[in-house]
This record gives sequence, structure tokens and C-alpha cells, in this order.
Amino acid sequence: MSHKDPLLQPFQLKHLTLRNRIITTAHEPAYPEAGMPKDRYRAYHVERAKAGVALTMTAGSATVSKDSPPVFNNILAYKDEVVPYLKDLVDECHEHGTAVMIQLTHLGRRTGWSKGDWLPVVSPSHEREASHRAFPKQMEDWDIERIIKDFADAAERMQAAGMDGIEIEAYGHLHDQFWSPLTNTLEGPYGGSLQNRVRFTLDVLEAIRARVGTEFIVGVRFTADQAQKGGFGFEEGVEIAKLLKASGHIDFLNVIRGHIDTDPGLTDVIPVMGMRNSPHLDFAGEFRSSVDMPVFHAAKIPDVATARHAIAEGKLDMVGMTRAHLADPHIVRKIIEGREEQIRPCVGATYCLDRIYQAGDAFCIHNAATGRELTMPHDIPKADVKKKW
Ligand SMILES: Cc1cc2nc3c(=O)[nH]c(=O)nc-3n(C[C@H](O)[C@H](O)[C@H](O)COP(=O)(O)O)c2cc1C
Repeated sequence: MSHKDPLLQPFQLKHLTLRNRIITTAHEPAYPEAGMPKDRYRAYHVERAKAGVALTMTAGSATVSKDSPPVFNNILAYKDEVVPYLKDLVDECHEHGTAVMIQLTHLGRRTGWSKGDWLPVVSPSHEREASHRAFPKQMEDWDIERIIKDFADAAERMQAAGMDGIEIEAYGHLHDQFWSPLTNTLEGPYGGSLQNRVRFTLDVLEAIRARVGTEFIVGVRFTADQAQKGGFGFEEGVEIAKLLKASGHIDFLNVIRGHIDTDPGLTDVIPVMGMRNSPHLDFAGEFRSSVDMPVFHAAKIPDVATARHAIAEGKLDMVGMTRAHLADPHIVRKIIEGREEQIRPCVGATYCLDRIYQAGDAFCIHNAATGRELTMPHDIPKADVKKKW
């Protein structure tokens, strides 16, 4: 590929220049220690920064409230002590030219009853999630007020850590539990019409903006089609995107398709080995042409050719290659050096994700150095002299 490789062209996101089109989307590798992203966490992201990824979306679902228990050993974004740890991570990634953001969430009902401090689980309905089986308390006005403030507090912490921006997680978690008729039985201003169901997110965004100002980058990751009986579909997904955009508070949308409240649903959103590649890429392209906003997307785009196609054909602004970077953090460097054939491919075994469900930490089934960056090199230097064994 020539130097005009579409994947290697910069992208202007507000004031932030992303140096190419490849990102890693939020994924909690469950490396925090007591909820804090310490040396291991930092080394993991720095390895990807050194190799050239444009943007690393740290955390997966860093939790903004105490009653959003760290079900996947998430980062505790509701604690002030998180700031210096994140600042070290951000500074070191910035030294290597990579932008850093963090995904914030409240998990709502997506948890078990026995996690964290055993606080009551809250959601806009009593409906239980098939996967985690907590019994949610239906949210009351003061829960809503408190959690809106928690998001603003957490956003301010992330800004203090020097982050380039934040992403609100809105699929399967509290935000889209409000949006979906399947999980919102509230009456009054936060229930009923689509506008009302989205109000919680709009209030959160407003509170965040009041705290972090207009420059800080804020995006939302959400499903634009729940692909589920009784849930919202593409038309409403686009409607939601338009409401978010009209708020004037967001700078990008990171779109997915499907629902994650059941294991089969999750598998459609994060397709595994044996399922087809890039199943939602055309959908994401259609979404991008329906909303005039920067659009990110990730779902089993493990190879450079498909990623390049996604950008060249204008389906996406930024392409997520997340598990691909677990398998080989040096993808971008290898593209730049014309060594694409040396990229260690992600085969979609998804052992990484399975492990965090077993309360373990994410490892890659065919790259032992992933998650062991502090002790094991990803780059094994070539010997100067060939030896015969
Ligand atoms: C270990 C692991 C943890 C994840 N955790 C999150 C998360 O907390 N929030 C999120 O939005 N997505 C999460 N994801 C999904 C990824 O962001 C991404 O959408 C998914 O892996 C599909 O993209 P890929 O095929 O490029 O890996 C996770 C994925 C993995 C593998």
C-alpha cells in the first residue's frame, strides 16, 4: 500500500488530530488492582500507543457510581484516587502520539446481586437481565438526580487526568435501559415517549458539559438497532442519534448493532470464531449516512483489508480493531513498515472475553505477551546471526 493508504490518513475530531484511522474500542481487560489502573494497565495501553494506534479508548465501562458494581473488575471512576493513575497512563500514551479517552458507565441492572458493596441494583424497571440476574429496584427521582451528578463528577475526574475525551456507554447498561421500551416502565418525564426515554442521557450530557466545558470531547457508544422483539429498531436508533446530536453536547457516535442482555445477543455484537467477519459494517455505513457525525464502529474487523475498505468506502470515520490488537498490538507499525503479512491475526477465539467472565484477567490465546507487557516483550528481536539447531 502506498503512503496514501486510507487507513493512515489523519482524522480531525474537533480540535484533536487522530494520526490514523485505527482505534481500540473500550474493553475492560480486568487488570485493575482494587479498581485502579496501575502499572500493568498502563503498560498494556502504552504498548499499543508505541506501535501507533490513533486512539485508545481505555477502560471498559469505568463505573461512575458506587451502586454500579465492578462486575468485570472495572475501573472505579467514582474515586478521586483514580486520577493520578490515569494521568500516568495518559501522559505516557501521549508521549507516543496516541490520543486517550475513557468509557464511563453506570451498569444499571447488568450485574449480579452479590457484586461490590451489595447496594440495591437500580434500573428504570424491575425487569431482570437474563445474563446477570440481579433484581433491580425501579429508579426513583433521587436515584436519577444522584447518578446524573455522578456522571458529571466522573467526567471532571477524567478531564483532570488529562484525557482527550470520554465516551458514554449506552448499550445494555443504564443509559439504554432508559431508552428501550423493554426495560423502562417509568411514568413521568423519564418514561413513555422516545424523547422522554432519552431524557436521562440528555440530562447527563448537559451536566457533563456544565462541568467540563465545550472543548472536551464527549461521545456516546450505543446500539442503533436492538435487533430484539419489543426493543427499538434502526429508525428509532437514528432518531436517538439525532436527539443526541441536537443537544449540541456530543462529538462522535460509536455505533453497534444488537443487544447484550443474553449470551447469544452478546455473541452477535462481539462475533466469535466461525461467525462471519464484519457483520455490521454495512449497517454502520448506513447509520453514518443517516447522521452527519463522526462515526466509529467495531465488530469483528480483524484484518487490515476490511478495515481499509471500511474507511475507503466511507462507511466509518474510525475503525475499531480491538481483539485484533489483543492478538497483535503492533498492527499500525506493521502497516506503516509494509509488513502486514507479519500481523498476528485475531482468530476470534475470544478467550480474552471468556476469561473476564470467569472473574479472571484477559489473556490472548495465541499471544502470551498480552497482559504481561511488564515482563514479556511483544517484539522479539531478530538474532544478528542465524543459528542452526
Ligand atoms: C475483553 C473484552 C472486554 C470488553 N469490554 C467492553 C466494555 O466494557 N465496553 C464496551 O463498550 N465494549 C467492550 N468490549 C467490546 C469491544 O469494545 C468491541 O466492541 C468488540 O471486541 C468487537 O470488536 P473487535 O471485533 O474489534 O474486537 C469488550 C471486548 C473484549 C474482548
